[in-house]
Amino acid sequence: MTSNVFTPLTLRGLTLRNRLVMSPMLMYAADEDGLVNDRTFVHYGARALGGVGMIATEVLAVEARGRISARDLGVWEDGQIEGLRRVAGFVRGCGVAICGQLAHAGRKSMLTATAIAPSALAYDETLGVPQTMSATDIADVVAAFGRAASRAREAGFDALQIHAANGYLIHEFLTPLANVRRDGYGGTLANRARLLLEVVGAVRAQWPGDKPLLVRLCCSDLLEGGLTIEDAIAVSRWLREAGVDLVDATTGNILPGYPGPVYPGYQLVYAERVRAGAGIPVASSGSIAALDLAEEIIGAGRADLVFMGRALLRNPFWAIEAARTAGVAIELPIPTYARATGPFERGY
Ligand SMILES: Cc1cc2nc3c(=O)[nH]c(=O)nc-3n(C[C@H](O)[C@H](O)[C@H](O)COP(=O)(O)O)c2cc1C
Repeated sequence: MTSNVFTPLTLRGLTLRNRLVMSPMLMYAADEDGLVNDRTFVHYGARALGGVGMIATEVLAVEARGRISARDLGVWEDGQIEGLRRVAGFVRGCGVAICGQLAHAGRKSMLTATAIAPSALAYDETLGVPQTMSATDIADVVAAFGRAASRAREAGFDALQIHAANGYLIHEFLTPLANVRRDGYGGTLANRARLLLEVVGAVRAQWPGDKPLLVRLCCSDLLEGGLTIEDAIAVSRWLREAGVDLVDATTGNILPGYPGPVYPGYQLVYAERVRAGAGIPVASSGSIAALDLAEEIIGAGRADLVFMGRALLRNPFWAIEAARTAGVAIELPIPTYARATGPFERGY
């Protein structure tokens, strides 16, 4: 049997050596000024040694008021570039691509005094009611995404992902469950998608033409009156036309608690629908932790990339072990690892 997972994928000028991507995961472990520290470096460095094709960073806040927590990584000022460059350089040196996730927390910021959102609607009682964004706030956020992309370019990232899911700012604009604006950013789907498309425009303007741009898109709120898969397909078409190369299809999280069933590959059906309906490459994530499932996803063309989260937290070397199971020889960033992964079965 040949492997589907351990085949390359090219997006613009970037070729990933396999289809396994470490999904963005906030570690709440950066310094309070958003800077990379040793813990961040080792966390990403360990996964870079483990054989995946690409690592997506956790949320990188594009403005200080857009942080989820005070321990988020930041890309809102130039002083943050150096630490990110160190991480990106190490990851790339291991033959692994690195994708920065640009994000704004909106009403889900735990820094509640400065939280902003499309409308004055609370996510929950703990976080409370956010400030409604003015036209100036919106323009500032769009510009902040553009500047963040420019810093990510300086830091040497291979790809960027705009976070438009998980109940954060851009998702809040997209869904009628959090956006009741009456201006050009609320009402119709085109209006609710305006912020996302302006952000894509600002990022693309700063991001090299040979480097891919991804969007993590909420493809259904799974709630009455919320965003639907049909909405997500329409938005994905607009994204493709605006220069986005891949949609990472997720669901839920606009309100506390996941409203749908959870099983291995539970979000795949949304990725498939977007891929077929919008004609754009897609990624899927969600309890994908077995090689057989990943092989089926890629082999059957259900998604182009598999994003894995917690499996890689449990075991940074998951991909090396999977390659061995698949009978595929992969290049090891530290060749001596072959002493443990074959063909030499005996130590000293
Ligand atoms: C600890 C943790 C932190 C996460 N942080 C982020 C994040 O920063 N950005 C994001 O888009 N998703 C985040 N997620 C969601 C994951 O990227 C992933 O989509 C989700 O965990 C489902 O994949 P899994 O079942 O393989 O873990 C996080 C998940 C976990 C477990």
